[in-house]
Amino acid sequence: MAYLTHFILLLLINLASSQQISNTESSSSTTTNPTTTEDCNNRWIYIRNLPSRFNLDLLTNCSEYPIFDNFCPYLANHGLGQKTHTKSRSWYRTDPLLLELIFHRRILEYPCLTNDPNVANAVFLPYYGAIDSLKYLYGPDVNSSFQHGMGLFDFLQSDEPGIWNRHMGHDHFLVMSRPAWDFSQPLDNDPPIWGTSFLELPEFYNVTVLVPEGRAWPWQEHAVPYPTSFHPPNLACFEAWIQRVRRSRRVSLMLFAGGGGIGASPNIRRSIRTECENANTSMTKDNTGYSQICHIVDCSNGICEHDPIRYMRPMLQATFCLQPQGDTPTRRSTFDAITAGCIPVFFEEMSARSQYRWHLPEEKYPEFSVFIPKEEVVFKGLKILDVLMGIPRSEVRKMRESVIELIPRVMYRRHGSSLGLRTKKDAFDTAIDGALQTIKDKPNDLLEQ
Ligand SMILES: *[C@@H]1O[C@H](CO)[C@@H](O)[C@H](O)[C@H]1NC(C)=O
Ligand SMILES: *[C@@H]1O[C@H](CO)[C@@H](O)[C@H](O)[C@H]1NC(C)=O
Ligand SMILES: *[C@@H]1O[C@H](CO)[C@@H](O)[C@H](O)[C@H]1NC(C)=O
Ligand SMILES: *[C@@H]1O[C@H](CO)[C@@H](O)[C@H](O)[C@H]1NC(C)=O
Repeated sequence: MAYLTHFILLLLINLASSQQISNTESSSSTTTNPTTTEDCNNRWIYIRNLPSRFNLDLLTNCSEYPIFDNFCPYLANHGLGQKTHTKSRSWYRTDPLLLELIFHRRILEYPCLTNDPNVANAVFLPYYGAIDSLKYLYGPDVNSSFQHGMGLFDFLQSDEPGIWNRHMGHDHFLVMSRPAWDFSQPLDNDPPIWGTSFLELPEFYNVTVLVPEGRAWPWQEHAVPYPTSFHPPNLACFEAWIQRVRRSRRVSLMLFAGGGGIGASPNIRRSIRTECENANTSMTKDNTGYSQICHIVDCSNGICEHDPIRYMRPMLQATFCLQPQGDTPTRRSTFDAITAGCIPVFFEEMSARSQYRWHLPEEKYPEFSVFIPKEEVVFKGLKILDVLMGIPRSEVRKMRESVIELIPRVMYRRHGSSLGLRTKKDAFDTAIDGALQTIKDKPNDLLEQ
């Protein structure tokens, strides 16, 4: 426990001091550096100063949610988690829940921060909304989950209300690192079923919310990639990885890293398991060119979650990575696969295509992924193997190149990374572009009051 307290203190100090530094930097650049001002045209962001009960205080309870994992170990390195081993430079034990911290730390080094809310094009709320939701989802406050976010709203109305009122919240944005589903419980559900009602509150309708998974008909939210474990600090580390991905021998045709599918009821995970078990006996190296047709990495009971080596190595050696939905349609594994140059195979549009429009352009899906409708597989006997074996080798190579080109856009590079690496737009930069554009595209009468 002493270690933990010490550790959180360090985190607090670091965040506080980097905020000061970046605020000083940005204020000097607004006055003295005309080039920066030019680049920052229409891109100024003001970070709302929130009391620590909305962010850092929430971390001190990281071990206190009895039916949720203790997430204290993953707070290290501003939410990237511990390094996978001491000599690793780019790989961390990252927990996707901590995207809120990762985002907060990264926005402190965004080049167009302003101290003046009146000149800002967007206002960022450094609120750890998904962590704040744990006390409703897994804690004692389950019966007041309709209150999630009300404290924040009250604060925004009472402390410097002019910042909200300038555009009635239409220029505000924040990150919540759980699927939107967890925050979409209708306000009149009594007794509560699952989730808080944050996204159902009219108080927040005007705010842009970045989540790892949006709803089928998203209202205020936009999906951004789940963080993977890859956070390179400089261009050399990034390029070394790309080399490795490109050269890696792909010895298996398809890979599924995950759990589930063991029950008797028909579903896509079960179909995948059955197909894999049969594939081993019916196909051989000679007639396929692969030494393994189907590789299953068993990730049941969360054993892979903070151990990227378990699945990254096999993904490097596979041509296709299957991405069947689990409890919800999206998976972090989609981004792990792209990072490994493994061509993702989707079974429903909600798994990615209708989600990550900013990061994975919709029209490019045929170039970097395969789509096989799950109904065809589960109910009509279509074999995934037959579809994948039917794609010519030359086509496969082209697809893999397209996947590799996407790697920068789905990675969250390490905070404080080298200037060279900052020239590559990563998942964070792309999300900021998307948020600024969304705010800009709102009808003028909303933004010019
Ligand atoms: C942390 O947990 C304690 C009790 O375990 C509770 O009193 C306190 O309000 C919690 N703090 C936050 C910020 O949730
Ligand atoms: C929430 O409400 C239900 C139904 O009224 C009740 O059974 C349950 O004990 C309550 N839970 C808590 C943590 O208060
Ligand atoms: C959201 O925007 C609408 C239209 O601009 C406005 O009428 C409403 O009051 C705003 N909501 C809040 C909570 O500020
Ligand atoms: C298929 O065979 C390989 C090598 O014999 C083995 O490593 C792998 O676990 C098998 N896959 C399945 C799904 O049984």
